[in-house]
This record gives sequence, C-alpha cells and structure tokens, in this order.
Amino acid sequence: MINKNAENIIDVINVSVSRCHEPERVKITSTESPTVPVSRALIEQALFNIIDNALRYSPANTIVTIHVYSQSNNIYIDIKDQGEGIPLKHAHKIFDLFYTTHEDKKSDSGSGLGLAVANGVIRAHQGRIELAHSEIGCLMRIRLPVDGGE
Ligand SMILES: Nc1ncnc2c1ncn2[C@@H]1O[C@H](COP(=O)(O)OP(=O)(O)OP(=O)(O)O)[C@@H](O)[C@H]1O
Ligand SMILES: [Mg+2]
Repeated sequence: MINKNAENIIDVINVSVSRCHEPERVKITSTESPTVPVSRALIEQALFNIIDNALRYSPANTIVTIHVYSQSNNIYIDIKDQGEGIPLKHAHKIFDLFYTTHEDKKSDSGSGLGLAVANGVIRAHQGRIELAHSEIGCLMRIRLPVDGGE
C-alpha cells in the first residue's frame, strides 16, 4: 500500500513543472483546483515524466498545456503538446518498459522508462493514464479517483 494524503493537485503539478528544463513553455489552463488523496512524491514524479516528454518531444517554440477538471468522482489531468504525437496504434505498448519510437538514439534521449513508471504510479492510485485522440501533438489523459479508489 502507498501512503496517501489530501493534496491540492495544482500545487503538485506546479512542483513537477518547476523541475522541468523549460518550465516557461508550460501553461496550466484550468479554473478548478481540486484536492485528491495521493502520494505526493510519487504523483509528482509521474507528472514530471509526462510533462518532460511533452516538452522534449515537441518544438522549442511551442506550448504545453495542462488542463485539470472534475467529472463524476474523478479528476482528470490532460497534458497536451504540439509535437508529432504518438500514433494511436502504438497506444497499447507506450507504457511498456523500454518502449521508444526513436530508432536513432541521440545522446540525450531517454531509456523508455518514464511512461512505464508513470503508469505504475497512477495504477497504484487506482487511476488510469491513456493516450487520447488529438488532432495535433500528443494528449496524455490521467484519471485519479477523488475518493482514492476506496
Ligand atoms: N509527448 C510525446 N510526444 C511524442 N512521443 C512521445 C511523447 N511521450 C512519449 N513519447 C514516445 O514514447 C517513448 C517512451 O516514453 P518514455 O518517457 O517512457 O521514455 P523516454 O522518454 O524515451 O525515456 P525516459 O526513461 O528518459 O523517460 C518515447 O521515447 C517517445 O518515443
Ligand atoms: Mg520520457
């Protein structure tokens, strides 16, 4: 079991963003500021992994948007970039360990662990992460139960 506390999710997102290499490219567009039972350190790391990808896999002059909203006992966090995105046909394997679409590994490219870790953390919270349909770029949607899945 993980140790969960009621945390303001916007606060947690802000800390994750501040750890990124280009925090100025991230815009949080939500009006809601819900409190959710989470392991703060684990969710902060999961969010960091996804926001880091959004920044890393999209052009430097583009914005990453984060939208938080509540819907029937869940909160949703949409993280959207304006890069090339991930084909939906890869959706079933992007959360596997070591998955990457980059054949030619650049020296600063990752090892394919970030999304697997994020998926494990969110599932440990009885939540889900999915690649959602988007016309432009990549849209990662996180769902967390407001009652902690009790
Ligand atoms: N926002 C995104 N846009 C386009 N491709 C993405 C995006 N996020 C993830 N990917 C693809 O999914 C792969 C897996 O991502 P993941 O974060 O698990 O690993 P990584 O970024 O390669 O390495 P690291 O372990 O450092 O995070 C990436 O290598 C990339 O091919
Ligand atoms: Mg990554």
